[in-house]
Amino acid sequence: MFSRSDSAARDAADPLAPLRSLFALERVDEAAVIYLDGNSLGVVPRATAVRVRTVVEDEWGVGLIRSWNSTAGLSRARSSESRGWIDLSQRIAAKIARLIGAGAGEVVVADSTSINLYKVLSAAMAISTRKRIVSERTNFPTDLYIAETLARDHGFELVLVDHSELPEHLNDQLAILMLTHVNYRTGRMHDMADVTRAAHDAGAIVIWDLAHSAGAMPIRLVTGDTNEDADFAVGCGYKYLNGGPGAPAFAWAHPRHIAWMDRTGWRQPLSGWLGHAAPFDFTPNYRPAAGMARFVCGTPPVLSLAALECGVDTVLAAEARGGLAAIRQKSVALTDLFIELVESRCAGLGLELVTPRDAGARGSQVSFAHAGGAYAIVQALIARGVIGDFRAPDILRFGFTPLYTRFVDVWDAVDRLHEVLKDGEWGDPRFSVRAAVT
Ligand SMILES: Cc1ncc(COP(=O)(O)O)c(C=O)c1O
Repeated sequence: MFSRSDSAARDAADPLAPLRSLFALERVDEAAVIYLDGNSLGVVPRATAVRVRTVVEDEWGVGLIRSWNSTAGLSRARSSESRGWIDLSQRIAAKIARLIGAGAGEVVVADSTSINLYKVLSAAMAISTRKRIVSERTNFPTDLYIAETLARDHGFELVLVDHSELPEHLNDQLAILMLTHVNYRTGRMHDMADVTRAAHDAGAIVIWDLAHSAGAMPIRLVTGDTNEDADFAVGCGYKYLNGGPGAPAFAWAHPRHIAWMDRTGWRQPLSGWLGHAAPFDFTPNYRPAAGMARFVCGTPPVLSLAALECGVDTVLAAEARGGLAAIRQKSVALTDLFIELVESRCAGLGLELVTPRDAGARGSQVSFAHAGGAYAIVQALIARGVIGDFRAPDILRFGFTPLYTRFVDVWDAVDRLHEVLKDGEWGDPRFSVRAAVT
């Protein structure tokens, strides 16, 4: 039987272990809290408070409006900040591009995932000559809601299918296949290259939502094989990128589509002034900026961008230790261990694995279903210091962020889960009181 000291031995041999010190976890550790929810909100990096304070006190406080152009001489934290706030989102976009296998000029950092999906889906709809969008019924609701409205407004049909039905929908009616790489509830992961190739063979455009994969595994949006290259992607800054609550999101378009936008003068639907070719000319008519810059709408949220950059830097810090491949390797080891321990230690206590057992089809999370008790079990676990979350109607969800999650955390979390389950502790009525955010 795998013991706690076996877990400790794996931590001692883990090349990513030193990166945990990049995160401000002292108070969390002091309270003996185990955080398994970085797939929902990443832990705060140690650098973030210092950086945000510098932006507030020096760049905003002293530089005032001059900081849009240059923060030279103001920032104590880093010399790379000296180009000014107006360049901040582009600099972060270039960093995120390295994490998703894309070129620097192909990514824009702005707005939220929902809003960016609205923009890239609009582009895909403008490019396509067909009128059908297909997605999974179990996709994250915001993706479906955005697609529903755009489809309704532009005479498209939105068809929602089960995972197993996808292949039969890749046909000559399909305009756009819109999928989330790793499913938010089950943690099931698509083979991005395979699915993209099959959709392209059917003559369709593919949009990937990378909310649950960017920063958690290697991603190659541009593969070197044109047929496997994705078309558009969006992703989230506050999950595995550790950018903080409500962090700005990103959007990506393939260079061939960027060239199409430039050639046709396509304007994204949220044609705001900072996506204009010459915003400070203040002309009355919109003229899109070249390339991805057109995907910007309004003024960037500088404080949030500063925090996001600190988060993205934590993932880039892994580059010296095997990078995203090492992150993925540890993620698989953590999730494998969690599944193995839950299934052995909590056998017969009502949990059913809903995440694929095959690590190749699994993201960096593990979900179990429990008929009738999932919400209360998650609350009882939180009371015992293990933070996961609940997804309706019956899912307990646990995220594993290899930058800071340890093998002993996995062991201890399962130990406490066993405590919660074995005598029905979760049945206490206080654990069934629903909070607004689950
Ligand atoms: C797959 C997916 N897309 C999008 C979002 C959220 O988008 P937004 O940041 O716009 O709220 C989430 C949030 O958890 C998500 O899981």
